[in-house]
Amino acid sequence: MGWLRRGRGLVLTAAMVLVAAALVQTTTAWAQTALDPDPEDVAAANERAARLDPEDYKFMQPVCTACHSARRILAPKSWARWQRTFANMKGNGAVGTDEQWEHIQKFVKRAVTTINVNHADEDELSAVLGVDEKTAITIVQRRVDHRFNTAEDVESVPGVDKAVIEAIKPRLLFDQLYQDR
Ligand code: HEC
Repeated sequence: MGWLRRGRGLVLTAAMVLVAAALVQTTTAWAQTALDPDPEDVAAANERAARLDPEDYKFMQPVCTACHSARRILAPKSWARWQRTFANMKGNGAVGTDEQWEHIQKFVKRAVTTINVNHADEDELSAVLGVDEKTAITIVQRRVDHRFNTAEDVESVPGVDKAVIEAIKPRLLFDQLYQDR
């Protein structure tokens, strides 16, 4: 009798797990179709994102394209704005392992984050430019009487990694009228 009840319990649990899995899959498929109805656009956005940083995108793709296409992750914005997006997506139900989140942050910093080097605070500078605190402080002190105007200007600061600056060059901002959106 005991094993019969346990057996039935197991079957019931297994059935529930299956139903739940099917439901998650249907909901995800439905959500993606609802948010991005054009399959060609979905594929194109995916390819563009993969080209930007293939290593990190491998980890990012399963997490960040579960509900919508990669098109949404291609629009550059400030690091502060990305932090808000991550919190927002967690609220929407995005889940990833620590490893996945690490790669997501790397992808975003490297490929789709803007930074104004004449305006960003030390935390933002170290996060986005990948420099230590001392170098971030040097940048802040230097721009008081020497505003940065080019990527080369930034690269000339000791402690700055040229390779990082070259990678994010198109998203380095120097203008005075800067609003962190
Ligand atoms: C569980 C579903 C889900 C997952 C997973 C998800 N998103 Fe979203 N995302 C949404 C929905 C729904 C919207 C539109 C409504 C909104 O803005 O919250 C959206 C909108 C966005 C936007 C535009 C609005 C904004 O806040 O900037 C961006 C950018 C974005 N997602 C990025 C991401 C990234 C990056 C990931 C991976 C870390 C991700 N999403 C994972 C559901 C999801």
